[in-house]
Amino acid sequence: MKKIAVLISGTGTNLKALIENCANQNIPAEIVQVIADRDCVGKKYAIENNIPFSLIDRKLDAEIFQKELIKQIPQDIDLIVCAGFLSVIPDGLIDLFPDKIINLHPSLLPDFGGMGMYGRKVHQAVIQAGKKISGATVHKVNKTVDGGEILAQVQVSVLDGDSAETLQKRIAPAETALLIDTVKKLLI
Ligand code: GRF
Repeated sequence: MKKIAVLISGTGTNLKALIENCANQNIPAEIVQVIADRDCVGKKYAIENNIPFSLIDRKLDAEIFQKELIKQIPQDIDLIVCAGFLSVIPDGLIDLFPDKIINLHPSLLPDFGGMGMYGRKVHQAVIQAGKKISGATVHKVNKTVDGGEILAQVQVSVLDGDSAETLQKRIAPAETALLIDTVKKLLI
């Protein structure tokens, strides 16, 4: 059985979907560790499902943060999924697991990505730029924020009158489906 670790910071919708899809064997893997970088709603999905959970505070000294992350991720992990993880992945983790870390981003990268571009800010920027199409991207994590190889994208229309909130709500299910599909393909 393949092993997945999931990194979260927020509501954990994508973690929940990953747990469900592993449980029903749509994804042939087991989630062996969930890590959050702050106290967050999403941790409940790990706890409810008896998945080992650890909180590694993003405010820790950077070296300690990296060391703790490395300590919590089994060496034989097959995939590390950043599902709404807001901290930058430390270089040491990327060096240890090159090609095994992926991230979900709520825009069509390389547009509207990079440092500080997360959550509503992304959707706000898309609307301000007058884009008619947005979407989501799953990409490999390298040492450039949101700059790793693009693995999959889904397009979602931006409608007249959209707010960051309505656009986010329209994109969310599409990005979850994209994540599940991509994780499945990577592990088969
Ligand atoms: C998603 O929009 C993802 O693209 C972004 O953070 C959000 C995660 O939401 N990186 P959730 O915590 O899975 O509900």
